[in-house]
Amino acid sequence: MARLKILYVTSECFPFAKAGGLGDVAGALPLALAARGHDVRVVMPRYAVTKKHAAAPLAGSLGVPFGPMTVWTRVLRTTLGEDRGAPVPVYFLEHDRLYDRKGIYDDDNGAYGDNLERYALLSRGGIELCRYLGFEPDVIHVHDWPTCLVPVYLDTVEASTPIARAATVLTIHNMAYQGWFARSELPRSGLPWGSGALTSLEMHGQLNLLKAGIIHSTIVSTVSPRYAAEIQHEAGGEGLDGLLRARGGDVVGVLNGIDEVTWNPSLDRHIAAPFSADDLGGKAECKAALQRELGLPIEPHVPLFGMVSRLVEQKGVDVVEKVLPALLERGVQVAIVGSGDKGIEGRFLALSHASQRFRAWIGMNEGLAHRVEAGSDFFLMPSRYEPCGLNQMYSQAYGTLPIVRAVGGLDDTVDNGRTGFKFDDLTPEALLGTIDWGLSVYARSPDQLRAMQQRAMRKSMGWSMIARQYEALYRLAVRQRRARF
Ligand code: ADP
Ligand code: GLC
Repeated sequence: MARLKILYVTSECFPFAKAGGLGDVAGALPLALAARGHDVRVVMPRYAVTKKHAAAPLAGSLGVPFGPMTVWTRVLRTTLGEDRGAPVPVYFLEHDRLYDRKGIYDDDNGAYGDNLERYALLSRGGIELCRYLGFEPDVIHVHDWPTCLVPVYLDTVEASTPIARAATVLTIHNMAYQGWFARSELPRSGLPWGSGALTSLEMHGQLNLLKAGIIHSTIVSTVSPRYAAEIQHEAGGEGLDGLLRARGGDVVGVLNGIDEVTWNPSLDRHIAAPFSADDLGGKAECKAALQRELGLPIEPHVPLFGMVSRLVEQKGVDVVEKVLPALLERGVQVAIVGSGDKGIEGRFLALSHASQRFRAWIGMNEGLAHRVEAGSDFFLMPSRYEPCGLNQMYSQAYGTLPIVRAVGGLDDTVDNGRTGFKFDDLTPEALLGTIDWGLSVYARSPDQLRAMQQRAMRKSMGWSMIARQYEALYRLAVRQRRARF
């Protein structure tokens, strides 16, 4: 089969910059595709956080056309997966006024006011980079609203140039974030008033980047089959379900995978001791080390519940908060790592000080996220909705049984009573009832618990099989796009 040339335009890519699961996906899927022989390249902004990774500047500057203007950026090159069989080149677009800031999308004062301009530059710059490198991609894979302008530029501004033949695949990682901007900001995207693009971008008198992306992408995918169905109904579509339904068969659900090198308890350098499905011995050491690190009593036989999450409504943290008193009354331990809603952060911190058995660590901490996955007995993920979710897969890989609400990708990736525990209603009673189910297995049936852990750990969740599905999707997109020329 012919080798595909694939460009990833992305606002996050682990290990360079990550705010959530998109970073993990964009840091792993390109490697799995490169391992299948494809020519994959990634382009992303040179945020401040990326500057701890050395990168070599390319000669000259890249002039990115923006309406009547040209915006000049420097391009730096580094490598993703240097220690893997098939590494992937990563190109950073450097523009310090726009990208050299503390956060990725926001800081303590909220979302950056110039995000349209920031991500328009990434999107238009990604296209221009191809010319600069002499790289003619068959497919450009874009992710979420920040890169939704790529297919819009290709269909409008670039329509008569060779690069417009590139197919585009838009992966929606979360319908709730759509990239809304005031209509008056249109010039910041470099798109002219009166262009066809405005019709696709406009929604309720504002600009909506995700909407335009859905219209202009050759294929739209999302990150689990169940979420692909959910977003085509009013309850999950966040106002865009009609548009998605109209695209019919072009909307596809491909389940995420996990990077089996980064998230592997037998290789993980962040954890106290390695372990595997065949030898779970090290897991007890990881539990003790986590209890020590967090200042929890070192009690090997007390069940420990972990949670690593953005502390936002999506993740059902309000429901967790409601069950905490009853949960702690059961004598268990709870460890939460996360950041987000300031009110919840404050209340979790206060409880951390008040309770012997509860610890919250507020902020992003990659190493601690691994240690919570490794050291806990159960993992809590009672999401309101969940496009895919990676943490419940990481927890299965680490023999930490996930307790999840049966929605979106959580439903698709956890086998009830076999690799984790599921419930339907988003209520404290349903969550607590399922926690009690887990606790009774823990207390009364250690053999069953161990069998569940081993089954979870032996599940195949890697990216290599999934990369084949994306490959098929790319080929379909290429055929559909070429048919238009
Ligand atoms: P989402 O993308 O909706 O936040 P996912 O489960 O897909 O949810 O992915 C979340 C990713 O972000 C995981 O890799 C998780 O470990 C990581 N993560 C979330 N919060 C933190 C945190 N406070 N510290 C470190 N990693 C975090
Ligand atoms: C989003 C979703 C999450 C998904 C991740 C990666 O952040 O909330 O469910 O796993 O993207 O696709």
